[in-house]
Amino acid sequence: MKKITIAIDGYSSCGKSTLARQLAKTLNYHYVDTGAMYRAVTLYLLQNQIDFHHSDMVTNCLSQINISFGFDEATQTQITLLNGENIENEIRINPRVASAVSDVSALSEVRKFLVKQQQVFGQNKGIVMDGRDIGTVVFPNAEIKLFITADPKIRAQRRLDELKEKGQHTSFEEVLANLEKRDYIDCNRADSPLMKAEDAIEIDNSDLSREEQLELVLSFVKNLSLSLN
Ligand code: DC
Repeated sequence: MKKITIAIDGYSSCGKSTLARQLAKTLNYHYVDTGAMYRAVTLYLLQNQIDFHHSDMVTNCLSQINISFGFDEATQTQITLLNGENIENEIRINPRVASAVSDVSALSEVRKFLVKQQQVFGQNKGIVMDGRDIGTVVFPNAEIKLFITADPKIRAQRRLDELKEKGQHTSFEEVLANLEKRDYIDCNRADSPLMKAEDAIEIDNSDLSREEQLELVLSFVKNLSLSLN
């Protein structure tokens, strides 16, 4: 079957990465979690005490940031590497990363730096990429664009469960507040705000299981692939 590009956008904690991972595994495609890339830059700035309110300081340090992806045999999952170091756990559970990442990802210099790399990752198609601007900016010609939404309270509960599983204990209210703040910044920033591409298919997965959602999306992929062959 002809390889295509699948772009997945949507709000925080909507299960975009889970869906993208499932799709990549089923279709034998590459998967790129662009949120992890913005989190990696944020972690670098925090570790090196670079004030992200000073965009020239941020711009100057971008050339020292190398982000790549690896595979952890033990957990059978993809991991994010920052300058060769496994930062997967840190970028998921560090609350400082969670609270700064939306501000960092609003910086045009950071976006330009990462979008360029994302476009290189996807140049041979056969890729599933998830984020906030994939269907609108990174791959405006993607064959399939999905825009994922879910009730904020359901999203906060899912995120809380995920954090608990990772040994992080926080309150539902705190998680919901962080999520709503990130949604607000992501949707209202000047550069590449989160929005549904005109040709994206919207899926509200509040009442869908992971398996139901995967089946639904695979049916879109199959229909499209048949028409392309
Ligand atoms: O998907 P995530 O929650 O890991 O993303 C973390 C932050 O990165 C999110 O608040 C917005 C930003 N982001 C972005 O601006 N553009 C992307 N393509 C992906 C993520």
